[in-house]
Amino acid sequence: MVHFFVNNVRPYPLIWSLVLAFLFLDATPYAAKIVTVEEICKNPNPAYALTFAYCSNLLNSIPGGAKGANVDSLAQYTLEVLQSNLTNTVNLLKSLIANSSTSPDLLDVYHICLNNLDDIGGRGQQGALAEIKAIKNGLKQHAYGLVISGLHDTLFYLRSCTSVDHGTPNRDFHDPSLLPQYTGDILKVIGILDAISGYLFS
Ligand SMILES: *[C@@H]1O[C@H](CO)[C@@H](O)[C@H](O)[C@H]1NC(C)=O
Ligand SMILES: *[C@@H]1O[C@H](CO)[C@@H](O)[C@H](O)[C@H]1NC(C)=O
Repeated sequence: MVHFFVNNVRPYPLIWSLVLAFLFLDATPYAAKIVTVEEICKNPNPAYALTFAYCSNLLNSIPGGAKGANVDSLAQYTLEVLQSNLTNTVNLLKSLIANSSTSPDLLDVYHICLNNLDDIGGRGQQGALAEIKAIKNGLKQHAYGLVISGLHDTLFYLRSCTSVDHGTPNRDFHDPSLLPQYTGDILKVIGILDAISGYLFS
């Protein structure tokens, strides 16, 4: 009996160390970094017309509070805000386009903006709202290169909307609608994501 037992127990240490090794690998998943709101918001890039107050108010409004929130969940939350801002802007543009009192010059602007901000064709391939889906996937997979390039593309689409009158200075593009305010919000939120993205790789 003793002989049998000893012979059969010998391989167990090796097996257990393998099992423990796998448990250890499984128990050490990707751990996202904790960064404070103050750190993220302290030096807002002037290109985004972003202030410390706007940045910290937005990040502190994350459900559960920003204290102890990791950088991935702050990015995820800010992306939700950006998506909702873009959706509101797309809906505003659709109602402006549907309004027969809208001047032809402004109608051109609104169409160009809609074509840059909406998820064109709904297939997630083109337009700022399509990029949000790609960025979310990148974040989920910790493929931060995709997050960064998606943010650049989103900014490009926004600028294609907000600079639409620059090539035609003789036309009057004073826009009395809420669009300039809405696109201003989008720019600020992209600025917050840009600030967060600096911490995703570290
Ligand atoms: C964008 O989201 C922020 C935060 O929820 C909100 O305060 C702001 O009014 C939104 N702007 C638009 C245009 O939806
Ligand atoms: C259409 O545009 C005019 C002029 O800007 C505005 O006064 C009116 O309220 C708008 N109508 C709707 C239904 O939004």
